[in-house]
Amino acid sequence: MKSTNIYFGKLLLSLLAFTVVADQSNVFDVTSSKYGGKPDSDISKAMTMSWTDACASMSTSTVLVPRGTYELLQQATFEGPCKAPIQFQLQGTLQAPKDRSQLDVSWVQFKNLDMLTLSGGGTFDGQGAHSWKEHHDSTPVDIKFKTVNNSIISDITFMDSAKFHIGVHDCNNVAFQRLTITAPEDSPNTDGIHISSSTKITVSDSYIATGDDCVSIGDGSNQILVSNIACGPGHGISIGSLGKYPDEQPVVGITVKNCTLTGTTNGARIKTWPNSPATSVAWDILFQDMIMVNVKNPILINQNYCDKGKSCKLMIPSKVQISDVRFKNIRGSSSSPVAVKLDCSHSAPCRNVELSDIDLTYSGDEKNKITSECNNVKPRLARVTKALACANLGDIPIDNSPPHDDGGFGPTSSAAGNSLGQNPTVRVMVLISSTMALWLLHGLL
Ligand SMILES: *[C@@H]1O[C@H](CO)[C@@H](O)[C@H](O)[C@H]1NC(C)=O
Ligand SMILES: *[C@@H]1O[C@H](CO)[C@@H](O)[C@H](O)[C@H]1NC(C)=O
Repeated sequence: MKSTNIYFGKLLLSLLAFTVVADQSNVFDVTSSKYGGKPDSDISKAMTMSWTDACASMSTSTVLVPRGTYELLQQATFEGPCKAPIQFQLQGTLQAPKDRSQLDVSWVQFKNLDMLTLSGGGTFDGQGAHSWKEHHDSTPVDIKFKTVNNSIISDITFMDSAKFHIGVHDCNNVAFQRLTITAPEDSPNTDGIHISSSTKITVSDSYIATGDDCVSIGDGSNQILVSNIACGPGHGISIGSLGKYPDEQPVVGITVKNCTLTGTTNGARIKTWPNSPATSVAWDILFQDMIMVNVKNPILINQNYCDKGKSCKLMIPSKVQISDVRFKNIRGSSSSPVAVKLDCSHSAPCRNVELSDIDLTYSGDEKNKITSECNNVKPRLARVTKALACANLGDIPIDNSPPHDDGGFGPTSSAAGNSLGQNPTVRVMVLISSTMALWLLHGLL
């Protein structure tokens, strides 16, 4: 009880401090006379100057891009460390250059920052249509977050990126929430958010419709929570692809919860390349409470993943060891007959895989019936129809007793859902209060 009081005392104190600071905060408006940014023109210089001033401010500062449409034709790096928490208030729309050949890195980078808040209801418009036809290999990520800690990105639209919309790399404790990410269904490689080498990242309450994965989680990802996402069209929510490079770090503690996938090619997917140069691991993965609407491959582990046009040595199995994976309460419709496919590696069969409360129907023509296929894995099955219970393996025992919420098996302490709290509001409060408390401490010392 006492510790709870102390905790809420701290929370109140830090929120109060936050309010006080916010009141006196310095606003660096890119359209002010000092910076001279004007709608419908290139504001690259104004952006850089206002960021530099805001970042040098000794108290919380705000970079403001007011309503209106602006061009941002140069590569922009918003780099810290800054002297105090910094807010990037994007109310207007920033347009990328149509021709990306001048940009050899990401269009926009947020780098080496602590306590960044990016919000404001505005839009990053990648203007990617030109690049989709050109198939450039440059600018793999439009908006990159690199070594950004204790930050919140909320209420922003990202659209029509040249390739991936958002890249998250070497980040720690960052919440992405209430985002809208859109690109046409046929735009190549326009993943919504790609996360790698990062810890405690949440992606929640967002709408993502692109030409590739809505969310993809690459190597070195720890304690990642993806929840309340409406995804589609696109390629679904994926872990991977893994096993392409040597020295890949483990993927551990991934929770994907309460997501609806509509018209996507995949639903809940783990993908690894064949012929991996080294061994690596992915474990403690939970896909739960997901609704599939006409999804081609609703539940998929693919250890023979091979991207279109790439030459893959499919005969040489993947060396990525996948274990402790749970697919729980996944319902809806499959647009292909094979609704469940667990295609694990011959050299590293999947361990401890569980399928429970799976209820998928086939929405295609009447000639085919719904079915399932499993290779190099023997999952535990509970409340799954026979057709979805690895039909190619013959009879595997199915536990049809009513669910008892034992939380499944395997280590759950590292699951993102636990460490960050289940309630999004509490999670954000905890995030804000812990970061602000840290800041307060810092200010007092
Ligand atoms: C972010 O956190 C990492 C690891 O905890 C640390 O090494 C890095 O210096 C931090 N970066 C900033 C800008 O605070
Ligand atoms: C599940 O996600 C939807 C949005 O896709 C949201 O409206 C709903 O509140 C979420 N449910 C829970 C229990 O969080």
